[in-house]
Amino acid sequence: MASRPAVKRYQMTSDQAGVFWPFLTASPLPPTGAPMGTDMSNGATFYVDPHGWVLNDAIPVTNPNIFVFGKPGRGKSAWVKAFLNRMFAFGYQALILGDPKDEYELMCRHFGVEPFAIGPGMPTRLNPLDPGPLATNWGQLDKEEQHRRQAIIFGRWLVLLRSLIGSQSIGDRKVAVGPTEEQVLKAVLVELTHTTDTRELRPIVIPQVWQQLHSPSDHLIAELRYPDRHTFLDDTRLLRDAVAQLISGVFAGIFDAPTTVTIDWNAPIQSLSLSRLMPLGDDAVGMALMCLNSWGTAMRHVSGRRRINVRDEVWRQLRLGTGAVSSFDADLRLSRSHGDIEIANAHKPSDYLGAGHAGSQAQQIAKDLLHLGDIKVLFGQDAEVADDLEQLLELGPVARDIVTGWAMGGKGRALIAVGPRLHKVALTLHADLELPLTDTNQKLQT
Ligand SMILES: Nc1ncnc2c1ncn2[C@@H]1O[C@H](COP(=O)(O)OP(=O)(O)OP(=O)(O)O)[C@@H](O)[C@H]1O
Ligand SMILES: [Mg+2]
Repeated sequence: MASRPAVKRYQMTSDQAGVFWPFLTASPLPPTGAPMGTDMSNGATFYVDPHGWVLNDAIPVTNPNIFVFGKPGRGKSAWVKAFLNRMFAFGYQALILGDPKDEYELMCRHFGVEPFAIGPGMPTRLNPLDPGPLATNWGQLDKEEQHRRQAIIFGRWLVLLRSLIGSQSIGDRKVAVGPTEEQVLKAVLVELTHTTDTRELRPIVIPQVWQQLHSPSDHLIAELRYPDRHTFLDDTRLLRDAVAQLISGVFAGIFDAPTTVTIDWNAPIQSLSLSRLMPLGDDAVGMALMCLNSWGTAMRHVSGRRRINVRDEVWRQLRLGTGAVSSFDADLRLSRSHGDIEIANAHKPSDYLGAGHAGSQAQQIAKDLLHLGDIKVLFGQDAEVADDLEQLLELGPVARDIVTGWAMGGKGRALIAVGPRLHKVALTLHADLELPLTDTNQKLQT
């Protein structure tokens, strides 16, 4: 006769129970998207699927953007490269909007794509004021659609010009771009694109903006309510000189002419290498990143495929001031409408605050901006940076300990925040395929 063993009863708190019966949790995330390592809480594969997560009401994520933080060398860029490599299988394309260290070149060549090198003396020209695909077949659009698109294109141009001019300094003060300057820029853009011919939206380049400010038409002076040419020229001197810097300074011949590259939008990855700009200083690289971002925004809707835009080293742009922060902010906010995944890498959350002094408008925008990336990948950090995690990301002491402790114990270890949910994940790179493509230590080994 079958006999049952006697049931023993124990009473304990849930704190103690974990010691006797370590709980295994099932992964609350569905196995869709890119497999990105092992979830340490249950040994299961951890999948990252930003679009799938946004569409799934059970997962507390409302935008597909990913912010990656971590001490230099902990594997941020390697994570992004592995993610791209694993998302290509689902038809995604990647656009690297500025690669200051040329580290995505290996990956591009692996997929048979030649990256574009940008820098003084190089043949590549990118016109950040390119109206992009929104202006194709202009003549066939009805008036209403033309107005709608024009508003989008003008909006982008203004944000860019405002941020490029506002990034320049006089002594330790940034050039102010107030409502008056903005009105002038707007009128100049209208003047430049105005034509009675409705068959095309006239493309423009930055030198034309300077030309208009330098020798304004009578119509422009009257439109802006200046009593005479002399007053216009006096009042807009600072604006004119700031625009002149964009075409005569370090950027001469890079962003001031019609675009010369034709991008193959069927390739899985495209990248813009920027290492040649590095000797020109951080400000130059930051401003180049802004031009690339604006240009990248214009180049949407080309292929119809879902895109991942990578901004490795985004802090270089964010420290340039309010304009730079707001242009990044605008791109992130758009991601819900255009469906791209935006990935931004930085060392620590407070990099986002470098743009302004405490309490400034730039800081406030930057703080809010941290909420526009619902997915955060947190690699190891030193204890000094840990306060940032608590104060800016509101992650609490458990996350802080994982990031400063466990995550520092090996490359590829990261705490992944999916909305408020935290996952300890260790990423292993494929030894033959991915490790060689992500190696950024080579230069240190010679
Ligand atoms: N999961 C991993 N397993 C093994 N090696 C890794 C892993 N992740 C990164 N590495 C290696 O560590 C080195 C540094 O990685 P990576 O360049 O991604 O760091 P990073 O955080 O982007 O640094 P930085 O802030 O300087 O850009 C690379 O050579 C890379 O191949
Ligand atoms: Mg990196």
